[in-house]
Amino acid sequence: MFITPSLLAYHDWVEFKSLLSNLESHHIDGLHIDVMDGHFVPNLAFGPDLVNSIAAHTSHPLDIHLMISCLDTMLPRYIALKPRVIFFHPESCTEIMPFIDSIKTAGVQVGFAVHPDFSIEKTKPFWHMLDRLLIMTVYPGFSGQTMIPAHLEKIKWAKDCGYPGVCFVDGGVNYEKFPLLQSYAVDGVVMGNSYFATMEMP
Ligand code: DX5
Ligand code: ZN
Repeated sequence: MFITPSLLAYHDWVEFKSLLSNLESHHIDGLHIDVMDGHFVPNLAFGPDLVNSIAAHTSHPLDIHLMISCLDTMLPRYIALKPRVIFFHPESCTEIMPFIDSIKTAGVQVGFAVHPDFSIEKTKPFWHMLDRLLIMTVYPGFSGQTMIPAHLEKIKWAKDCGYPGVCFVDGGVNYEKFPLLQSYAVDGVVMGNSYFATMEMP
């Protein structure tokens, strides 16, 4: 199971450089960065300049999860940072294909983040273009929420219908949930609150 800690859950901003340094020795798949604009979700987090600073202080790949309304204006700023992956919510834009194209053309992997209220069936026409699906098992905006396991059924549906890419789960994941997630053939997880709760800082 690939693990990508979500930096949103680490609230001690003064210690952030130490955190990134500490994470260098962790065997993790990458770092998950939740970008929020206070409009698409009721929280504010991680502008492009901050993500740029993070990139300069980590060797881990960056997976950017965009929860913003202004994709037109902001997406190029995040593409320019050359993360490994950009996840966006398809309902946050009017035309989906130009966004997929601009991400892929830059050599960045692209994924849909699937909001709890978004139908997985609507993602199917885009599967051949997507590298990943990020199935949300909480309502986006905050770390530390309890997982809604019913949304894992979306993964089963997608895999049964032949979705060929990678499926990550985001929201309320802890180590006790791993057997359940493995039973759904989940490839990887985002871990916020539960990851940092057990992490020792020097
Ligand atoms: C929620 C974010 C998640 C969140 C995960 O909107 O997309 O990535 O930080 O945190 P936990 O694991 O605490 O639910
Ligand atoms: Zn996220």
